[in-house]
Amino acid sequence: SSMYRFPVLPVRGIPLTNHIANNWDAIWAFRPDPSDILIATYPKAGTTWTQEIIDLLRHNGDADACKRAPTPARSPFLEIFSPPPIPSGIDLMKDMDPPRIIKTHLPLQLVPPAFWENKCKTIYVARNAKDNMVSYYHFDCMNKTQPEPGPWEGYIPKFMRGELSWGSWYDHVKGYWMEREKRNILYLFYEDMKENPRREVERIMKYLDLSLSDEVISRIVELTSFEIMKENPMANYSCIPELVFDKSISPFMRKGQVGDWRNHFTPEQSKMFDEDYEKKMKDVNMPFRTLI
Ligand code: PPS
Repeated sequence: SSMYRFPVLPVRGIPLTNHIANNWDAIWAFRPDPSDILIATYPKAGTTWTQEIIDLLRHNGDADACKRAPTPARSPFLEIFSPPPIPSGIDLMKDMDPPRIIKTHLPLQLVPPAFWENKCKTIYVARNAKDNMVSYYHFDCMNKTQPEPGPWEGYIPKFMRGELSWGSWYDHVKGYWMEREKRNILYLFYEDMKENPRREVERIMKYLDLSLSDEVISRIVELTSFEIMKENPMANYSCIPELVFDKSISPFMRKGQVGDWRNHFTPEQSKMFDEDYEKKMKDVNMPFRTLI
């Protein structure tokens, strides 16, 4: 397990895996096409789900077309610069025609400026802090390219201090929230997607100026359910070798639920977390869904 576990380095104060930090100039200089679509999230907020929805929307619900390649090959990860077998996102995009569905976990201020110059459509997905952290914890345990998470008790303060890769969850969700109107960002919540996936799929469809039949929309909702995606080898990250993602520790498609934090936080941890959350989030009027 010591073969990866890359350290993080700060880029303008944000901790990023060293491979990303060392290639920062190329990432910052990236120029998307105006037709490219950006999906921005804090890690583990519902990125893969949204990537699958958008790929299906753009292929009129054609399941086979969306099984042409695994998620990271269909929808490149902008800033990733891992060692092989994962190609860098920027290299991958050189061989793809726009519009590309680009994934990023970068906080708003680190998104390459050409995305805003080109007015690329941007979809942000936020997930309530506690479930987001639980999901990230399991991911850090199994993903050997991430820093060692250490024990759960110690992970909570690291999350609260913004020390995990890609930085502070609080600043991340707030950064996009405050700019959503000015930059025409479609701001979604994982919990809304769980509550009424059809409604949220339709919101994404309209934002992308697409208009699909009711039947196709129903099919997309079905194909992007947790149960179906978990069994879909082109959407469940089974493409990543065990050496990198150790699925005996945790599968990528783990639970896909709202409220799993209750199985992890003690009442004391939850109280301490909520009090700190209140302070960090009081300057913005975010919907309740970010704390459940
Ligand atoms: S990553 O690595 O940042 O791209 O991960 P990301 O895709 O953002 O988040 C992974 C979590 O999302 C859950 N997931 C889903 N939930 C509901 N429905 C669908 N279709 C779905 N697909 C993925 C996945 O299970 C991870 O959450 P947890 O809570 O760990 O299960």
